[in-house]
Amino acid sequence: MYREQIDMNRLPHHVAIIMDGNGRWAQLRGEKRTVGHQEGAMRVHNIMEEATRLGIDYLTLYTFSTENWNRPEEEVSALMAILLQHLEQDLFMKNDARFRVIGDVSRLPQTVQDAVNHLIDVTKDNKKTCLVLALSYSSKWEITQAIRKIASETLQGKISLDGITEQTVTEHLETNFMPEPELLIRTGGEQRLSNYLLWQCAYTEFYFTDTYWPDFDEEQLCKAIVDYQGRQRRFGKTGEQVKSEEGK
Ligand code: IPE
Ligand code: IPE
Ligand code: MG
Repeated sequence: MYREQIDMNRLPHHVAIIMDGNGRWAQLRGEKRTVGHQEGAMRVHNIMEEATRLGIDYLTLYTFSTENWNRPEEEVSALMAILLQHLEQDLFMKNDARFRVIGDVSRLPQTVQDAVNHLIDVTKDNKKTCLVLALSYSSKWEITQAIRKIASETLQGKISLDGITEQTVTEHLETNFMPEPELLIRTGGEQRLSNYLLWQCAYTEFYFTDTYWPDFDEEQLCKAIVDYQGRQRRFGKTGEQVKSEEGK
């Protein structure tokens, strides 16, 4: 059991996941792609509950990208319907979990926007894991928005040109309420970021698995964490420096 191998004192605070492979999972079974999305949505419940049990502070799930708007309309509307079905309060209340969203929410159907805002509001005082869905999200969109906001505040004299630092950029991103992810997991076999958290993943550890998202279970989340904990994060230093700092 990988769960027992996890060092609870060195848990990642923020795990980001690219939930990929729903369509192929369904096609393999002779089903429509949307069946895979439905099954994938169920896995979100399991993974969120496991993250809460473990004590992970933030779980950021890539749910619908800016580029996914280019999928056939039928698939997009099925995805929106599934999303609406799963934005339920009970799961969050039962797990004392918060809900947040990153992305261009204004592009989502009004019914989804209303459900999102309601869930954010009713879960805001919960204390455990914050589940963040990236909806209508892409990193280039997010960074462009941040640049616009910073430029506008500079023109208004709220920030000076010299006052623009890496911290300023971080603070103007959608993710400004969370630490950067220590671990990013991508299911479904592809090894790419697909426009996800480009700035935030500057020093993130990547974990790729061939498992399709509907087959990704609690034990596999634990396996990814154990793998992450076995790595040495050097941040540009030498291995010896890191070891001697750990000994202090
Ligand atoms: C991920 O699964 C879910 C979304 C992108 C919405 P896919 O739908 O991309 O599944 P594959 O990659 O086609 O198998
Ligand atoms: C990435 O998956 C987006 C989400 C998981 C929501 P895609 O299936 O859209 O990624 P690409 O286009 O194959 O890279
Ligand atoms: Mg895909």
